[in-house]
Order: sequence, then C-alpha cells, then structure tokens
Amino acid sequence: MDWGMKNRLSKIIRPKDGRTVMLAVDHGYFMGPTTGLENIEKTVKPLLRYADTLMLTRGALRNYITPDTNIPIVLRVSGGTSILNKDHLLHEGTVVDIDDAIRLNVSGVAFSILVGQSFERDTLLGMTEYINKCERYGIPVLAVTAVGRGLGKDAKYLSLASRMAAELGAHIVKTYYCDNFEHVVDTCPVPIVIAGGKKQPEQDALQMAYDALQAGASGVDMGRNIFQSTDPVGMMRAVNAVVHKKYDPKEAYDLFKEHESKK
Ligand code: 5RP
Repeated sequence: MDWGMKNRLSKIIRPKDGRTVMLAVDHGYFMGPTTGLENIEKTVKPLLRYADTLMLTRGALRNYITPDTNIPIVLRVSGGTSILNKDHLLHEGTVVDIDDAIRLNVSGVAFSILVGQSFERDTLLGMTEYINKCERYGIPVLAVTAVGRGLGKDAKYLSLASRMAAELGAHIVKTYYCDNFEHVVDTCPVPIVIAGGKKQPEQDALQMAYDALQAGASGVDMGRNIFQSTDPVGMMRAVNAVVHKKYDPKEAYDLFKEHESKK
C-alpha cells in the first residue's frame, strides 16, 4: 500500500486505537430531505468535534460545508435510484468522477453494492471499476453493503457480502450489525464499520455500537441514530465515548442523559 493510501486511511481510522466514528449524512442522495438533514450545515456543525470523518454527497459538501471545515471527508460516489423505486432501490452506478473526488480533496469514497439482487453484477463491477481508479491515486474505497429491503441481514449474508467487497478490493466495509457478528468480522480481511440503520432508542443504539466493537468492528458509520436523536450532540458524544473511550453502554447512556438534561 502506498504512502498516499495509508495517509488517507489514517484520516478515516485513527491509528492510535484503530477505531473510527464516521458521521453519515449522505441519505439525501436517495431519500431527499431526510428528517434531521433539512439543513445539513446546521445539523452537522455542532457534531463534528466528536466525529473522525464526515460521509456525504458531492452536492451536500459543496452546498452545506464550508471549505475551511477541518474534517476528513468520505464522499459518496455511487447513486442513481431513489427510495420510490421499489424494484431497483440501490441499483447504483457511478455519480461522481474520480477527478472531482480528488478536486474535493476527499480522504475516501463510498460505493454501494447489492449482493444477491438481480443487478448485483452492475453494482459489483461499478465498485470494482471505481476501486481501479482509486488505486491509481491512493484513495480508499468504503464498500457499503446490504442497505435496502428484502435481504436476509444475518451473519451468513453479511459475511458473504462483506468478504466479497474486500476480495474485490474495498479498503473498508460498511455493513449492519447482526447476531454472530464476530463471524462477519473474522472472515473479512479489511476493517468493518457498522451503519446505524433506522432510528431506535438511544440506549439500544449505544448497546449495538458497543456489541459491534466487542465483536471486532473498527467503529461506526452512523446517521439517523445520531441526527434524529432527541439530543444529537449528546448522542454523538456518547457514541464517541463507546468507540474511543471504552465506555460501556450504561456509562455512555448516562453521558447522553446528562447532556440531554442540560439542553
Ligand atoms: C445509505 C448509507 C447511509 O449513510 C447509511 O445507511 C448510514 O446511515 P444510518 O446510520 O442512518 O443507517 O450509506 O446508503
């Protein structure tokens, strides 16, 4: 791995503890003005001090984040379908050229794949072609697996999808937490981060993040469970404490409640 690739990876995953808190606010590229992200600048600004990386789209970066913002960016570069397209949700292709990703000075890019759907080949080849370009310039690719409906999101499926992503060249894999998550982590040779999924009670989301880390995950790439929380800053701080400060779920929830009570 060359210096540039290693340098960018170190901006996504902290070398000190091998962990990361990624804040995902890319939902608008297929969900439109998602609750909590009506104004991304307003939502994200107070959260950034507890995030290692910000994951978002090109349009969100240009329109909501000022260029002097000091946060490594993971840019979503796949897209092309909306949440209204029930049959082909996430039948995605490339939506941002590598040149533009470089011009935006990103630390990594994210590409969604859908293993097990009729169009899996399109998404797998799309991601692989992007990885080939990224290898040329030393840009890590985060493969986003398993977003969408109708997929058995168990360890059997998630380990298959995650391992495939890594074997095809992804540098980091984003997937969902599940029972026997150790199997997903143990059979994937690159770092794994978990998505938060739909909003759940803060206590449960913190427990899930903790369990994923205990199973060997490198961190979280969380969105709705943070920005749709009753106290997004408190939740972001609590998630950060689980990931980087070894807080257990109870300690983290207490931290959240303490912050929420002062709001
Ligand atoms: C969509 C994504 C989102 O960033 C991802 O689902 C994370 O957000 P959340 O924690 O809200 O699930 O990659 O394809």
